[in-house]
Amino acid sequence: MRSILLFCGYFILLQGFCRAQPFVLPKLAYGYGEYAPYIDAQTMEIHLTKHHQAYVNNLNKAVKGSPFEALSLEALLTSEKALQVEAIRNNAGGHYNHTLFWEILAPKAQQSILTEPLAQRIMATFGSMDSLKKELSKAAMSRFGSGWAWLILSPDSKLIVASTPNQDNPIMPLVSERGIPILGIDVWEHAYYLNYQNRRADYFNAVWELINWGVVSKKFQEAKENKLLIEKQPSTHKKRNR
Ligand SMILES: [Fe+2]
Repeated sequence: MRSILLFCGYFILLQGFCRAQPFVLPKLAYGYGEYAPYIDAQTMEIHLTKHHQAYVNNLNKAVKGSPFEALSLEALLTSEKALQVEAIRNNAGGHYNHTLFWEILAPKAQQSILTEPLAQRIMATFGSMDSLKKELSKAAMSRFGSGWAWLILSPDSKLIVASTPNQDNPIMPLVSERGIPILGIDVWEHAYYLNYQNRRADYFNAVWELINWGVVSKKFQEAKENKLLIEKQPSTHKKRNR
């Protein structure tokens, strides 16, 4: 424990890799009803206060008293040892993924626009916003069972559409397409079942209307400056295929 505290003391100012408080549920920037008609108020409320809250609670339980207790969310998600604990893998992933999801969604009237650097990169990589939407939709639709569709910046600075099962995400060293997510679409049924039942494609088209491209653009800039992934080598850890 002493070595972890010393480690944290050293890195706390430099990396944000350590923390002193339990993980907490973030607040939405807008009221539950403001995402309608694309996502209904009840879905937003249950998704945040029941599903996301459960990931936060279970993550706090999983790390309490463990060697990983003092680590930040990012440190947990990039630690192969921590990820060997299934409850940490699932719940740290769930907390990180949902926090990102809430950040990139906004009601139409509150959205800020795509900035030039990301717009240019999307055009250069996918050809058009419509092609990006098609690729993301394909990733969302082809994800069997539960998971996420992502737009990530890879360690070699490429924009890539990816998908992960369950609550895995692209910063984990054990996934096949690694990178920093700048956009994530939750394709668990709990994200859409009340309004869309089994119509995942309709939900995808609806949630696309809520993407706040100004925030995604900011995340793109931050990802470009983040050396975390670039310094990590590809993992040899066994991948989980579901
Ligand atoms: Fe979810």
